[in-house]
Amino acid sequence: MFNNLPDYVEDPILGLFDAYRADVRTRKANLGIGIYCGEDGRVPVLASVRAARERIDETAPSIYLPTEGLQGYRNAVRELVFGGATADLQDRVVTIQAAGGTGALRVGAEFLASTNASPRVCMPDPTWVNHQAIFQAAGFEVSHCPYRTPKGRFDIDGTLAALNALPAETVVLLHPCCHNPTGIDPSREEWARLLDAMAQRALLPFFDMAYQGFAESLDDDAWAVRECVRREIPCLVASSYSKNFSLYGERVGALSIHAPGLEAAKVLGQLKVVVRRSYSCPPAHGAALVATVLQDAPLHAQWRAELDGMRQRMLGVRASLHALLTRELPDADLSFLLQQRGMFSYSGLSDAQIDQLRSRHGVYVVSSGRVCIAGINASNLAQVCEALVDVMGRAVHAGPAKDAGFNPR
Ligand SMILES: Cc1ncc(COP(=O)(O)O)c(C=O)c1O
Repeated sequence: MFNNLPDYVEDPILGLFDAYRADVRTRKANLGIGIYCGEDGRVPVLASVRAARERIDETAPSIYLPTEGLQGYRNAVRELVFGGATADLQDRVVTIQAAGGTGALRVGAEFLASTNASPRVCMPDPTWVNHQAIFQAAGFEVSHCPYRTPKGRFDIDGTLAALNALPAETVVLLHPCCHNPTGIDPSREEWARLLDAMAQRALLPFFDMAYQGFAESLDDDAWAVRECVRREIPCLVASSYSKNFSLYGERVGALSIHAPGLEAAKVLGQLKVVVRRSYSCPPAHGAALVATVLQDAPLHAQWRAELDGMRQRMLGVRASLHALLTRELPDADLSFLLQQRGMFSYSGLSDAQIDQLRSRHGVYVVSSGRVCIAGINASNLAQVCEALVDVMGRAVHAGPAKDAGFNPR
């Protein structure tokens, strides 16, 4: 009956994590998986979240949440995404709880596919490895638009040309901040041009906001989303609280739909249809933690300070890495390390260099050349720098580099 099952192809990032765990060397560094680790190399348990955990009655019976999720959580995350004046948006924005950012993307994709017989989505190349699979599984035809110039800047001209060639109603997947995997974000002026083009061509922005607060601040990072609302452009937002609350295993996310001119109750109803047939209702625990933090002023302030701390640490790692590498390689332009934002840096390392990093030095980097900055700390910084200098020294024999970065062309 199941004889024709295809072989399983491991997700490259999860497979890399398994290889790292199986590596018996004590001197090794995991710069592959997109998880924020603190200076001690561990995934932090935020003090604000710990305090929230103590307030939650763990002995209460575990009952089903409503299909659309916990009301307090939905209100609180809506405010985080759209800003303070969300009361004005009651009839235009619908937010439901979702199983992580991934669940939000999938529910959003299914919702859109249910309203369009031949749905299309255009996403940046490169983008998070799961985007294509999620939209294809929901029945979308996927196309790509260029994202990064060979000099390592956001490719505004390439993106605009691609947008201008798309049929009306095409969904455009966008990273509002901390683009995964490149760490390169459009400037506000570039966002404004992108939104102009999308509005003119009746394209539908779908923001995937997995790193709010990791680039500049909670408000700055949501600027493009809020600008869409200000301009009354319909859009979707998948938001994730895996990273900024350090709650990876709890599956806390949300899907918001900004639909000016549509009946919010109707939109909510159709989202509930998608959720009901997929997993009936979302998980309770993580959402209760996030809601408790966000609804309590002192805990909320504490969480913001902890989030600022995570961002500052990543900026510090970037500065240290840049300073150390520049000392070893004075002629190299490594300014990209300082310009990129969030957890990732697109290194431009070749496949051979990435292999050498792993085999010679126990430094694990995703095959695209994406380096997780948040995996670097004071204990492994020197090792990572040595490894990079070593493989860059061998670059002449290592085959073509992917792009600008550590191997500028
Ligand atoms: C761009 C992007 N979107 C979505 C996700 C998924 O988030 P979650 O773990 O909350 O499902 C990630 C996780 O790495 C991501 O980088």
